[in-house]
Amino acid sequence: KAAIGKVWDKDSSSRNLVPWLQKVRKNYMAMNKYNVTYNGKKHAKLSPEKLLCQLRDRVNVTMIQRSDGPFGTSEWQQYLPETSFSETVGQLGHCAVVSSAGSLKSSHLGQEIDSHDAVLRFNGAPVRGFQDDVGQKTTIRLVNSQLVTVEEQKFLKESLYNTGILIVWDPAPYHAEIDEWYRKPDYKFFESYKAYRRTYPEQPFYILNPKMQWQLWDILQENSLENIQPNPPSSGMLGIILMMTLCDQVDVYEFLPSKRQTDICHYYQKFHDYACTMGAYHPLMFEKNVVKHINQGTDEDIYTHGKVTLPGFRKVHC
Ligand code: C5P
Repeated sequence: KAAIGKVWDKDSSSRNLVPWLQKVRKNYMAMNKYNVTYNGKKHAKLSPEKLLCQLRDRVNVTMIQRSDGPFGTSEWQQYLPETSFSETVGQLGHCAVVSSAGSLKSSHLGQEIDSHDAVLRFNGAPVRGFQDDVGQKTTIRLVNSQLVTVEEQKFLKESLYNTGILIVWDPAPYHAEIDEWYRKPDYKFFESYKAYRRTYPEQPFYILNPKMQWQLWDILQENSLENIQPNPPSSGMLGIILMMTLCDQVDVYEFLPSKRQTDICHYYQKFHDYACTMGAYHPLMFEKNVVKHINQGTDEDIYTHGKVTLPGFRKVHC
């Protein structure tokens, strides 16, 4: 049996980042674009069990509905899906979350990923041409508002977006209510959302209620030993929490890097950037520390498959 190499350290610190990434983190803290005023606890290093309970009880994962202030207009009635998100997905059993990391390349994890009842993918991550490594099933795709807005033409045309349930998320100010966020979203994605809904009216497509970003961020900050970037969690972390609310069990692939760790950003591009794995804008390093802390799988699974196993919130007893 091969020896297990080093896996993600749950106490990873920004001190060990390359200097330019330390600087990027400091710049984001000085900028504080979302007006985060955090007064809560810090360094509350909870046990994995308590941390799971905090995540279960304090992060409220919901989709925008007609009852959400500005979305109550007759115009929005035509665009928001008629069926609620929970009715559309139902309760899921074993789920897979597929990060888009470069370390998925040559992983041959495709079959294992597809053996799950549901698979979550992110942004523009393709399956065609990469089935052997990432599988071909897509149950839910979580996309950010930047992609939907800045790459609107691709988003409306590329067939990869036509599979499964779509969810878009957009960063909101720390204290903002839905009204304020609606008036000033980070990216003005509402028109693209409507255009997509007109083009593909049959495909379920939801808008994530932005409240959850900061509910989750607070818990990440509370459980970190230093100040984390005052920016929303990454799509990857939002997706992990989303699936923990829907599934009995969640296997996450290559969020914590395996022995294949690389500075290649995505498995589907040639672009090299170490920040994709360690975080620049997003508090990604601290997200990974928390995920390592609550992992119920083995270090060997992380090392060989980049695999972390988390319980669904239905299975968490507090
Ligand atoms: O880059 P993108 O946001 O589309 O990737 C989806 C998610 O996968 C990220 O939000 C991040 O959580 C995770 N990821 C990672 N390491 C990488 C690339 C992506 O952990 N190298």
